[in-house]
Amino acid sequence: MSKLNKQIYFSQVIVSALFSVSLIVDLIICSVNFKQVQFSYGPLSFIYGNQTRIHWHTTELSKTNMKAGKMFQSSELSNYHEVFVGDDKFKYQFKGMDAKFSYELPAQVDKFIVMTDIHTNNKYTSTMSTDFDFMVLCGDQSYGGSVADFNMAFKGFPTKPLIMAMGNHDEPGDFLIVNGRPKNFYQQVRNIGFYFIHVQRGTPIVDDQVDLGIEFLNQNVNLSAGTEHIFIVVHYPVYSAGYFGAHPYFTQKLEKFIDENEKMNIRAVFYGHDHSFGAFKRKQQYFIDAGVGGGKIDDLRNTSYAFDRAWTNESLHGPLAVPATCTQACYGYEYHLDSWMKYSRTEVNFEQGKIVYNVRDLDTNQLLKSYEQPL
Ligand SMILES: *[C@@H]1O[C@H](CO)[C@@H](O)[C@H](O)[C@H]1NC(C)=O
Ligand SMILES: *[C@@H]1O[C@H](CO)[C@@H](O)[C@H](O)[C@H]1NC(C)=O
Ligand SMILES: *[C@@H]1O[C@H](CO)[C@@H](O)[C@H](O)[C@H]1NC(C)=O
Ligand SMILES: *[C@@H]1O[C@H](CO)[C@@H](O)[C@H](O)[C@H]1NC(C)=O
Repeated sequence: MSKLNKQIYFSQVIVSALFSVSLIVDLIICSVNFKQVQFSYGPLSFIYGNQTRIHWHTTELSKTNMKAGKMFQSSELSNYHEVFVGDDKFKYQFKGMDAKFSYELPAQVDKFIVMTDIHTNNKYTSTMSTDFDFMVLCGDQSYGGSVADFNMAFKGFPTKPLIMAMGNHDEPGDFLIVNGRPKNFYQQVRNIGFYFIHVQRGTPIVDDQVDLGIEFLNQNVNLSAGTEHIFIVVHYPVYSAGYFGAHPYFTQKLEKFIDENEKMNIRAVFYGHDHSFGAFKRKQQYFIDAGVGGGKIDDLRNTSYAFDRAWTNESLHGPLAVPATCTQACYGYEYHLDSWMKYSRTEVNFEQGKIVYNVRDLDTNQLLKSYEQPL
């Protein structure tokens, strides 16, 4: 029990700190009528600025209040609930429920994981090892952004700290309420900075999203000033050997931004959408098409897709040849496709003098491939 009280603020719930000597949790969360909370999904624990945002959805529309010390405020009727906690290590419980939840974001990040395209299938997220500090999702958690979708996607979800992007399948629904964020946002986690940009669909609208996303990057470069490691997270592929492939307008704008900001310590760009893993390297940066974390596995691109490479070569590694239909800007300089056609997660390990990206098979837990990035 620590600095919680002063910094907590509340929304749609009563939160009361316990002062009993038999303290087992730091927070008790309850609805105004003290009925047992009926979850549709959650609680999810988001890293949110310098706070923690606990979010959950209840099956019943309920009017709840918020109260902390002398502060008391009535809320709107809602199924969506959130509470912000100004701490990064605490235990909490919902009134009437036995389950206790604990949250911790360690002072030093050793490992975070990246997953994408869960598409409502919680098979892996609910069973996988949670030996990481926090997780990043690159979008398409759902199929249509509905509560039923998120219910499936987040069933048994780790209560580990989470940050996530919106994919094209999340957009039709209430994703922005679930995420509590604008489409483009920056999140600092200790010595790591994440730019989440929103590019998620094919032509023609993708160009407008690209412009907004790149503008967001340009306007917010200083948010990460002095930050040791920077990552960009986006749903749409930058380089890809997958079914949908990259969109050259996006790829070229992002390359330009990265080239103009060489001092920014951008380590990698993570994305999804293509449902097949690929690691690409261009100059100092890795571009990781983080595969698929639950959705359908897609095959590699075939020759009928015009604006990208057709993977007629069985080699899984190589320098990228420049095909006649495209400029080199479409591909990065180096590709590694060892881990395609597998359900996988990417583990990002901070080690002495290097970052190690490990691709792990979610079905067998085997390490499929490891990429080292010397710093
Ligand atoms: C948290 O962030 C807010 C605004 O982003 C800032 O005003 C506040 O000082 C920060 N608090 C701490 C403890 O860093
Ligand atoms: C970022 O900071 C630099 C140095 O202080 C300044 O010159 C530049 O205008 C800033 N950029 C933005 C977008 O605020
Ligand atoms: C390539 O993709 C197209 C479009 O989905 C499909 O019709 C075609 O059969 C595929 N070709 C091969 C060789 O897989
Ligand atoms: C595939 O590409 C590799 C490396 O680029 C090359 O050495 C090899 O000859 C190619 N194989 C075929 C069948 O085209």
